[in-house]
Order: sequence, then structure tokens, then C-alpha cells
Amino acid sequence: MHPYLNIAIRAARQAGKIIIHHLEQPDKLTIFEKGMNDLVTQVDKSAEAAIIEIIQKAYPNHGIVGEESGFHPGNEFVWVIDPLDGTMNYVHGFPQFAVSIGIKQRDHLEHGVIYDPISQDLYTATRGTGAYLNNRRIRVTERNSLKGALVGTAFPFHDRQAKPHGVPHLEILQKIFMSGADVRRTGCASLNLAYIAAGRLDGFWESGLKEWDIAAGVLIVREAGGFVSDFNAENGFLESGNIIAGTRKVHQELLDIISIR
Ligand code: IPD
Ligand code: CA
Ligand code: CA
Repeated sequence: MHPYLNIAIRAARQAGKIIIHHLEQPDKLTIFEKGMNDLVTQVDKSAEAAIIEIIQKAYPNHGIVGEESGFHPGNEFVWVIDPLDGTMNYVHGFPQFAVSIGIKQRDHLEHGVIYDPISQDLYTATRGTGAYLNNRRIRVTERNSLKGALVGTAFPFHDRQAKPHGVPHLEILQKIFMSGADVRRTGCASLNLAYIAAGRLDGFWESGLKEWDIAAGVLIVREAGGFVSDFNAENGFLESGNIIAGTRKVHQELLDIISIR
């Protein structure tokens, strides 16, 4: 295993311990509102601090982008961290949240870890070496149509009027639903991507995400044989936050629907 991945796993598990510890004491949780429907707790912050401490001890020269603490400049390696993806779920005790750590070298995703602290499922990938769930190789499904597919998405709750790519989300959702797919909105983008890699979902689309929501998941999906693009069939998802992922055919059908204006 690559030493960077090893450190990322150690950091993700440490963050997971903090997340679970506080889940057992929900009445003691302090919740702040960053923006409309955008919550943060002291758990997000302490999980991120624990991750950063582990990274900086091992690689003091590496750069870091953390959702809660922002950009820490460094060399060409940048660790992209979401210490708790799915905070809304977490504060409700809805068991869909994860730690997500991606590692970029310049603009290339090299390693990714997504850790579900409830199930203790650990999804990992290093570019060119496949994707793994708890050290066992995983692959996307063979699904070759939206008909019968299970697809994840989210609602644009930061901006309910949002029209990603010029069309309201609910119109796109309706078209995808009418194509014969069933749709899940579970509130944890990183786990949606991990589930595609593990063959539990056939596809996923969402708009307006942040780099830390998807950096690890994009690599894990691709290493599991899946396809990922933005809404223009290009690679701009880390910048735009608009992402489509899935098996080759499901990705293509989602793209065909979403890119029609
Ligand atoms: C959120 C989750 C959610 C997605 C939101 C994200 P957070 O991340 O990934 O599934 O729909 O767009 O912001 O704020 O819980 O880390
Ligand atoms: Ca997130
Ligand atoms: Ca988060």
C-alpha cells in the first residue's frame, strides 16, 4: 500500500472515532448554521483537526484543503478533506455520513479514502491499482440502462431555485425517474460515489458540490471501472461541483438527459 494512502486511512479512522464518540451523546452536540441548511458542529471541526494533525506529522510539506479550516499551503501534494460528509444526517442520527480524504498531485487525483464510521466500511483507491472495500477489490455493476437502475442524487437545498445547466433540478429528476430508474437521496455525496464503486448504486448526479465532497469518490469510482464527468462531459467537476457518475451506459444516459437544455 502506498504510504500516503496508509496515512489517509489512519486519519480517516481517527476522525471516525471522534464522530462515533459524539454520536453517542447527541444532547451535548453544539450545532452552528454556516448558511441556509448548511450546518457545522464541533465534531466536524475536531475531526478535521485530528486528520490534519496526522497528515502534518507525516508530511509537513504537503498542502491541505479542509472544509472547515480552508487552505493550508504546501508543495504539489494537496490533501482534500471532508471530515464529516453528511452533517445534516449526523445531527439527526440518520446513519449516512462519512469521512472523505482525497490526495492530489498538482491537479491529478492520486489516492482516495472514504470511511463510513457506522458500518466501518473503508473504501480506498490509488490511481492505476483498482478500488477496494475493506481490502477486497470492488467493481461497478454491469447495468447498461437507466431502466431498472438505482441512482443517487440530492436536492439543491442551498439554493432551492437553482437551475444547474439551465434546468431546475426537479425537472431533471422527473425525466430520470420517468426513464425507469429509481432514485435515492441519502444526503452523503461521498458515500453515493463509494456505493457506485461497490455496485450498490448504478449512478449518481448532483450539482453545486465542493471539491472535498467528491475528490476521493471520483477516484474510487474510476478505479472501480466507472465513469465520471461534469455536466459538459468534461473533467471540470472539482471546480464546478456538477457531477455525473455511473457505469458507462448509466453515466451516458444521465449525461444525455442532464445536458439537454
Ligand atoms: C453535504 C452532503 C450532501 C450534499 C451536500 C453537501 P456536508 O456535505 O454531501 O449529500 O447534498 O451538497 O454539502 O455539508 O454534510 O459536508
Ligand atoms: Ca460534504
Ligand atoms: Ca462536511
